[in-house]
Amino acid sequence: MNQDYIKPDAWSIIEEGFEKDRVKSSESLFSIGNGAMGQRANFEEGYSGPTFQGSYIAGVYYPDKTRVGWWKNGYPEYFAKVLNAPNWIGIEVEINGEKLDLARCIEVRKFRRELNMKEGWYHRSFETVLQNGTEVRVDARRFLSLETDELGVIKYEVTPLNKDARVIFRPYVDAGITNEDANWDEKFWEPLETRHSLREAFVVARTFKTHFKVATFMHNTLFRDGKELPVKPLTTQAGDDKICLAYEVAVSRGEKAELQKLGGYTVSMNHAEDKLIAAAQEVIRKAAEKGYETLLDAQKKAWAGIWEMADITIQGDVKAQQGIRFNIFQLNQTYLGKDARLNIGPKGFTGEKYGGSTYWDTEAYCLPFYMSTKNQQVARNLLAYRYNQLDKAIENAEKLGFTGGAALYPMVTMNGEECHNEWEITFEEIHRNGAIAFAIYNYYRFTGDYSYIPEKGLEVLIGIARFWKQRATYSAAKNKYVILGVTGPNEYENNVNNNWYTNYIARWCLEYSAEQVRKVETEYASDYARIKEKTGVKDTEIRQWEEVAGAMYFPYSETHGVYLQQDGFLDKELIRVSDLNGSQRPLNQKWSWDRILRSPYIKQADVLQGFYFFEDHFTREELEKHFDFYEPFTVHESSLSPCVHSIQAALLGRMEQAYEFYLRTSRLDLDDYNKEVKEGCHITSMAGTWMSIVEGFGGMRVKDDVLHFSPKIPEQWEAYSFKINFRGQVLKINVKVSGTEFTLEGETALTVIVNGKQVLVKPGNLVAV
Ligand code: BGC
Repeated sequence: MNQDYIKPDAWSIIEEGFEKDRVKSSESLFSIGNGAMGQRANFEEGYSGPTFQGSYIAGVYYPDKTRVGWWKNGYPEYFAKVLNAPNWIGIEVEINGEKLDLARCIEVRKFRRELNMKEGWYHRSFETVLQNGTEVRVDARRFLSLETDELGVIKYEVTPLNKDARVIFRPYVDAGITNEDANWDEKFWEPLETRHSLREAFVVARTFKTHFKVATFMHNTLFRDGKELPVKPLTTQAGDDKICLAYEVAVSRGEKAELQKLGGYTVSMNHAEDKLIAAAQEVIRKAAEKGYETLLDAQKKAWAGIWEMADITIQGDVKAQQGIRFNIFQLNQTYLGKDARLNIGPKGFTGEKYGGSTYWDTEAYCLPFYMSTKNQQVARNLLAYRYNQLDKAIENAEKLGFTGGAALYPMVTMNGEECHNEWEITFEEIHRNGAIAFAIYNYYRFTGDYSYIPEKGLEVLIGIARFWKQRATYSAAKNKYVILGVTGPNEYENNVNNNWYTNYIARWCLEYSAEQVRKVETEYASDYARIKEKTGVKDTEIRQWEEVAGAMYFPYSETHGVYLQQDGFLDKELIRVSDLNGSQRPLNQKWSWDRILRSPYIKQADVLQGFYFFEDHFTREELEKHFDFYEPFTVHESSLSPCVHSIQAALLGRMEQAYEFYLRTSRLDLDDYNKEVKEGCHITSMAGTWMSIVEGFGGMRVKDDVLHFSPKIPEQWEAYSFKINFRGQVLKINVKVSGTEFTLEGETALTVIVNGKQVLVKPGNLVAV
C-alpha cells in the first residue's frame, strides 16, 4: 500500500479517493485538537470496516494495572493509559431506510478529506450509491474551538442526487466506549447520569480509579436547504451510558438535509463535580447564541493568531512547506500552554500509544519551539509542570532507595508518578533527569528571566543534583566516579556502565546546581532562606556535588579520538549501517532484542545528544569527529533522531545531509516512513522538525543574551522564513539564496550576530545581510 497519497498543498492536508486500507492512517493524519481535547478523524456516521476510534481529553487518564511477565521490586503499580473518551461526534445517518456506511455502499465517488491548517477545520465530502439505489452527496465539516476549548462543532449535510429521500439523523453521545490499549480488557468508564431534552443530551461518566468526572454533551439544530426546522425527535434511546436522539428531515432530490451538532466535554478538573451539566449547558447556550458561522469565524481568527507567530514559510518546495506546517499545526493542536497541569504526549490526541503524556521529549525537544513561538508564560508552564511534581519525583526516588530529597523524575508520567514498567527504562533510563535540569537553564538562557530559578527551579535542581550525587559510585580502581547500570538515550543498549551522555549531563547538573545554589544564596536572600528551610540544602552537600562532578569518569578512545558511548563500545563488531543488508531494517522489527543489544547500532542521538545540548563545550573538529564516528552506526529508529543530526550536519556545512535528515522528520507521518501512522502521529518529534529549520538551517542560538544566526539554505528551496519571540519582541528572519533579511516587531533596536558579525535591527526597518 503506497502511503504517499496526501496531495501537496501549502496550507491543507488533502486526500482524494476512498481506499479502505487507508482509513486508519487518515484517521490519524486528519486528527483535530484544541489543546484541551482532540479526536481521530473517525467518520461521524460510523464505519463497519477497519477503524480505530479515538477521542481524548487532555489530562484525563487511566491507571491500567501493570501486566508484566515477572514483577520486579520498584515497578510502578500501573501503566497510565491515554484514555479513549466518550464519543460526542457520532451521528448515525439513515437514508430511505438504509444506514449510511461507507464500507457497505455500492460505490463511493469524489471522496475527499481536507484538513485546513490555516483556519483549523476538517472537512470530508463524497458521493455514494447506497444499496437501496439512493445516490447522495455528503459534506461534513468539524472543528474544535480554540476560543472555547470545551466545544466542538459539526455541520453534517446530506443531499440526495437521484431521488427524494427521507433522511434520519441519529446524533448521540456515548460513554460506553473501550480502549484499544488495555492490559486486562477492563472498562475504564463508569456511567453516572444521563439527561436529555428535545435538542440536547448529556452523559456524565467517571473514570474508575482516577475519578475524573466528565459530562459529554450535544446540542442539535436541523435545516432543510439552509432553513432552520423545528426539532422534534422521532425517537429517543436513552441507555445508562448513551443517548441517541433521532430526527427526520425529508428532502427532495437536490435539497440539502443538514444537522448542526455542538458537542464536547466539561470536566471535573475545571468545574465542581456537581456542576458539570450546568457548565455544559452554559457552553451550549453561548455557542448556540453565536451560531455556526460566528463560531467558525472565531476559529479562523484564533488560528490566524497562532500562525502569525509560529508560521514557517518555504518557497520553492510545496511538500516541505506542507510538512513543516503540518508539524506546527499538530503541536498547537496538542498543547497551547494555557494550563500547567497539561503536557505534550508523544501521540498527542491522535492515538493511544505511549500511554502517558510526558516524556523527556518535552524538555529536550518541545521547549524551544514553545519558547520561540509563544510567550514566556507558556514555557514557564512547561517548567512549572515538573516543579509541581517534585514531591512525586522525590517519592519515586525513595521507592528506588534514594534518600534525603533526591528526586528522580519519571520516564513517563501523567501526574508525576512513574507509569512505565520496563526495568531497563524505568530504573535505568535516568538521563531524563538531566534534560529536566537542562530545560531550566535553557529557559533562562533564552528568555533572560532568572526569576524562575529562585521561585521554583532551584528546588528542582537540588532534588536532581542529590539524585546524581547518590547514583554515581566511587570506583577505587579508576579513582573516579562512575555511573553503572544505565540506559542512555540510545535504547538499543541496556544496563551499560558509564554511558557518556548520562555521565556528562550528570556532571553538568551537579555543577550547574551548585552554581545556582550559590547565586541564589547571594542574590536572592529571602528565596534562599525559604528554599534552605524547605530542602535543608547545606554547603557541605554542595561541596560533595562538586567533588563528584570534578572526578566523573568519561570513557574515551585514544585510538579514535572520541568519547565512547559507554564502557566496552569498541568490543562490538563495528559494521556500519550502510554495510547492512536493507532487508534487515528496521532492526526493531527484524532482529531479536538480544541481537540488537550486542550490535553497535544506535537508535537515536546519544553521544551526539550531548554534543547538541552542550555544543559550546566542544570545538567544531570534535563535533565532526564524533559525528563521523557515531552517525554511521545510527539507524534513526526513533523519530527524535534525525532532527539532532540535521542540526549538526548543518553546523558542519553538510547541507545535503542536513536536508535529507530534515525531510525524514518533516514528512515522517504524512508519508508514513515508519509504516505505523495508523497508530497515531509522532507529535513530539514535530518540534524537532521546527528545530531543524530554525537551529539547523537558520543557525539560531542564544549566547550571552544575544541572538546568533548562521543562515544556510537547502539547494531545493528558494527562500524560507521564520519568527522568534525573543524577550518580548518578534524578530522575523527571511533567508533567501542571495542573503538574509531581518525585521523586528517591537520597540527597542536589537543587536543580533549574523555569521559572527554584529547587525543592528531597528523596529520596522528591514535589514538585509
Ligand atoms: C524514544 C524515547 C522517547 C519515546 C517517546 C522512544 O522511542 O527512544 O527517547 O522518549 O520514544 O517519544
